[in-house]
Amino acid sequence: MNVPFVDMARLHADTHDEMLAAFAPVLDSGAFVQGAEVEAFEREFAAVYGTPYALAVNSGTAALHLALQACGVGAGDEVITVANTFIATAEAITLAGATPVFADIVEGGFTIDPADVARRITPRTRAMIAVHLYGEVADMDRLAGMARDHDLKLIEDACQAHGAVYRGRLAGTIGDAGCLSFYPTKNLGTVGEGGMVLTANAATAGRVASLRNHGQAGRHVHIEPGYNYRMAELQAAALRVLLPHLEAWNAARIRVAAWYRDELGDSGLLLPATPGDGSHVHHLYVVRSAGRDALQCELARAGIGSAIHYPTPIHLQPAYAAAGEGPGSLPRTEHAVREILSLPMHPAMTHEEVCAVAAAIRAHAAAAAA
Ligand SMILES: Cc1ncc(COP(=O)(O)O)c(C=O)c1O
Repeated sequence: MNVPFVDMARLHADTHDEMLAAFAPVLDSGAFVQGAEVEAFEREFAAVYGTPYALAVNSGTAALHLALQACGVGAGDEVITVANTFIATAEAITLAGATPVFADIVEGGFTIDPADVARRITPRTRAMIAVHLYGEVADMDRLAGMARDHDLKLIEDACQAHGAVYRGRLAGTIGDAGCLSFYPTKNLGTVGEGGMVLTANAATAGRVASLRNHGQAGRHVHIEPGYNYRMAELQAAALRVLLPHLEAWNAARIRVAAWYRDELGDSGLLLPATPGDGSHVHHLYVVRSAGRDALQCELARAGIGSAIHYPTPIHLQPAYAAAGEGPGSLPRTEHAVREILSLPMHPAMTHEEVCAVAAAIRAHAAAAAA
């Protein structure tokens, strides 16, 4: 049985007609950029998230860039984050004019280690970005405490954690600003690109609103140089159709993760945490294996999709080699990236598909042991 890594067509099958119906009035309106659909989407998103301000932009990268800049991060500042994330987290820091400082991850997990963050705080540290990687919320209580103690801004990269709940609060609403991506494969993904900045701070929201639209305070009044980070109306129309499905999709992902746990418990792989309480929404299902490369080859041979998120940590990427401290500086991160493997995971996945993935993994383990 072939098992695709993700299956966008299957995921969109239920909403296909509704989406086409939502596009028609946008096409007829002749207004295609940051108009009524974007405004309505922002309102609906803010209501779901219970946050005062939700500002739509055209990508998660733009959301992170604007959140940093609106929080006052700029040239000469250091921003502490992880190296095992999508490169956009670091790029946003660079775009804001600041320098990324990479901290290691917690033992046995994938999120930022607050103890290692503490060791890397200097007089130039201005902010931290907590990345809720794979859908698992970082240790926000400790990070928020450190932000208070050291007068730092705390920004959440919740691009992989739509709808994740941490101690009763939605990921993205806990720090000074939260950033989400609507890249197609995300837990809430559009049919193109999109992003969102969440904040409870009126001044931060105002600055994001201005910066995303060329630094305008009013029509043709530009108070600072800004960007074109506006969301397209068709994307907002699609996202308004998809948003009501987020909760059920996350529940389905959590169910798939539980199936994997049941099927792979004795596989010898190190499985991700499956708290089942909504604090992990399983954007990706990432296992660890010392024999990862051979396992991935075997899965490919069996027709099962897999991927590595991410094979090279950012401090070892050519673009950021100068920013980090080189090989050996982040031992847990560097160890993890040699072992991680993302198995197929999406809300439309069936129990049969999970069993097929598990059977291929067990067959590989048995062959290796023989
Ligand atoms: C952790 C993380 N941060 C930032 C981004 C950037 O989002 P986008 O691709 O929408 O710019 C992504 C998504 O790709 C991501 O996974």
